[in-house]
Amino acid sequence: MKHNLIALSFMAIGMCMATASIHAQTTLKDAFKDDFRIGVAINQNQFDNEDQRGDPIIETQFNAISPENILKWESVHPEPGKYDFAGPDRYVEFGEKNHMLIVGHTLVWHNQTPKWVFQDTNGNPVTREVLLERMRDHIHTVVGRYQGRIKIWDVVNEALLDNGKLRKSPWEKIIGDDYIEKAFQYAHEADPDAILRYNDYSLENEPKRSGAIALIKKLQAEGIPVTAIGLQDHVKMDWPAVEQEDATISAFAALGLKVMITELDVNVLGGKQTAEITEMANQGGANLYTNGLPPVVQQELAKRYADLFRVFVKHHNDITLVTFWGVTDGDSWLNMRGRINHPLLFDRAGRPKPAFDAVIQVARPAAAK
Ligand code: GLA
Repeated sequence: MKHNLIALSFMAIGMCMATASIHAQTTLKDAFKDDFRIGVAINQNQFDNEDQRGDPIIETQFNAISPENILKWESVHPEPGKYDFAGPDRYVEFGEKNHMLIVGHTLVWHNQTPKWVFQDTNGNPVTREVLLERMRDHIHTVVGRYQGRIKIWDVVNEALLDNGKLRKSPWEKIIGDDYIEKAFQYAHEADPDAILRYNDYSLENEPKRSGAIALIKKLQAEGIPVTAIGLQDHVKMDWPAVEQEDATISAFAALGLKVMITELDVNVLGGKQTAEITEMANQGGANLYTNGLPPVVQQELAKRYADLFRVFVKHHNDITLVTFWGVTDGDSWLNMRGRINHPLLFDRAGRPKPAFDAVIQVARPAAAK
């Protein structure tokens, strides 16, 4: 009898330990493996394997990567005729070594693109023909170099204003509205098998969403190979509402596009919702949590993440990738100008936050799939 009790207690302890270790071993990529890939934007230290805190997290938790900066025009093509592929090569090798889906970000954007791209040697704007040729050369050279290795490209980033009209960027002003068509055509020529994305922020809001839908429909009617939409999802605690997120995903899926969440983070400090770095810096909310997130806000953040992931899982047939914009809170762009933000699933020490557990809990049990 006594022996049986002892045996039972050991069994109970063993079962608890097994449960705890299964829980401890559950990773983001495994939890959602039947739904979508889980990606992360990585920086140079990380793809150079020099981030002792971040790299183990990247390698165990994620199965897709995006380059935070190394493939932006100013990094990869800083001067006329001068490409710098040292960093991008290492980024791609890092992804291949870890058997990850590798994303390219971004080809045509108004930010982090050098002025020379739009100017002649006297500083005057170049002609449409010259700019188209520069764009073609850039896209063919960069996409062509990684053909078959980088599977997804953000071809055009942030072409729309909040009112849904085309942004008057140097691309639009010099080439005209069809710069978008041209960019997708050049990318398709350079890698016919790549998935080509249009990527933007605040697409959850009307009328920006309507503008994006009209743009995609126009491109599709012209036979332009746009195959995916990137919802950046730099979100806040109270924006967008889950209903808005849900309706937005449905609206783009209805166009036959694969939907990808491309730059997910939750700005706990609030401020204007935008991904524009200049606006963010000027209009960010108060720097409330410089000594860490209070437990009650940790729980609110966990709930926010769980609510968002419930929407993503609901759309698992249309969503193929959910990418976080950074590994740990300390890596995030949302810390700019001295703000201490807490937008991701891992804290500054690399420990999973309550939001990590909340996201894992949302994953559907195997039996329900
Ligand atoms: C935009 C860009 C990203 C990144 C973020 C924040 O969303 O697409 O590459 O620069 O802004 O910095």
